[in-house]
Amino acid sequence: MTGTIRKVNAQKILDSRGNATIEVRVYTKDVVASACAPSGASVGRFEVRAFPEGGVDASIEMVNKISSKLKGLNVEEQNVVDSVIHEFDGTKQFEKLGGNAAIATSIAVAKAAALEKNVRLCEHIADGRLRLPFPLSNIIGGGVHTKGDSIDFQEFLVVPLGAKKFRDAAVANVMVHKEVARILTSQRPHYVFGRNDEGAWAAPLTIKEALEVLSNAAQKVEGELGIEVKIGVDAAASELWIENEKVYVYRKEKCKKSTSQQLDYVLSLIEEYDIFYFEDPFGEEDFEAFAKLNKNVSGRCLVTGDDLTVTNKERLKTALERGSVSSIIVKPNQVGTLTDVKETVTLALSNNVVPVASHRSGETCDSALAHIAVGLKCPIIKIGIMGSERMAKINELIRLEDEMGLRMAKPPFSDS
Ligand code: PGA
Ligand code: ZN
Repeated sequence: MTGTIRKVNAQKILDSRGNATIEVRVYTKDVVASACAPSGASVGRFEVRAFPEGGVDASIEMVNKISSKLKGLNVEEQNVVDSVIHEFDGTKQFEKLGGNAAIATSIAVAKAAALEKNVRLCEHIADGRLRLPFPLSNIIGGGVHTKGDSIDFQEFLVVPLGAKKFRDAAVANVMVHKEVARILTSQRPHYVFGRNDEGAWAAPLTIKEALEVLSNAAQKVEGELGIEVKIGVDAAASELWIENEKVYVYRKEKCKKSTSQQLDYVLSLIEEYDIFYFEDPFGEEDFEAFAKLNKNVSGRCLVTGDDLTVTNKERLKTALERGSVSSIIVKPNQVGTLTDVKETVTLALSNNVVPVASHRSGETCDSALAHIAVGLKCPIIKIGIMGSERMAKINELIRLEDEMGLRMAKPPFSDS
């Protein structure tokens, strides 16, 4: 029958950091579809496990075993496939199969279904009108994505919310990236600047210096293009949190902050730099501190959970009950199947929480994330702006815009 799975297998490939990851292939009579899994460096404690004990090789063995269970199912039945994946693994955190093998299998099945129907992946997974997301791009980087004496916060980002076309939005982000390099070299002519894991500039800056440079660059591009460019931060604060001492340790800035000092600090940065997006300002267990911040900046700054919510529906429910977030990161491999991703995004959207489809710091050139963002109606996509693995998603969105004539999503906090 059309769309019946004949075989599933996997291969060990390399990601953008040169680390091993997994690619899964799904075969039907008429098509072969493959999907690759990315991997994180600042991995949340509540994410599923990327690989089982034994790493990628053990995961590949498991995919060979799951093949016989998936054989005979139809690629159209994503829910059935995903529940077989869950049953096969049998653990909450994909300890046997590995979340990366699970998500690559799940997405490869969706790609095969799209190929069978001769539609694009975003059309296959969509229900309703398709819209293009705004690109949220990492411009200056620190934290665990950057070697050496790096900035205490992980990411300093921009999102051109005034763009009417995705292509213009992508160009705006590239221009900010270039402008930051120009400002930094003029300020520090003797430094050699490098790029970190996500293609963001690795620079010997304090948090405020980074925000200053980023704001200036964003304003310059805003003036040149006439497009509003907002700035954002991913503090990845779980990486700063020391549980024994109950403090956030700022290694580069040589200071420690209690939770209430962290709240005051984050609030002051949002005010001073007009920050529109703030991801993981607190540790991954602190729903309360998130809620205090969210209440304070509601309607003007997105308070985004990443390590806090890990694309998990149950953790999102807790965040909703406590009012902790106005936005969540959606990293498919944090949760393991497309059905899980869909459920989390649907719950977010129905509660006015903005889902942000997101890459990982270790990526591949798989462009499925672009389709997931469009298909699941995520108004923002966090995919970086430099490096072929990031451009694979950017360029896919440019293609979707040109070929399908899609329009941009409605920006958060706008009534237009
Ligand atoms: P990752 O982190 O290194 O785990 O992909 C990216 C992020 O924190 O957003
Ligand atoms: Zn994050």
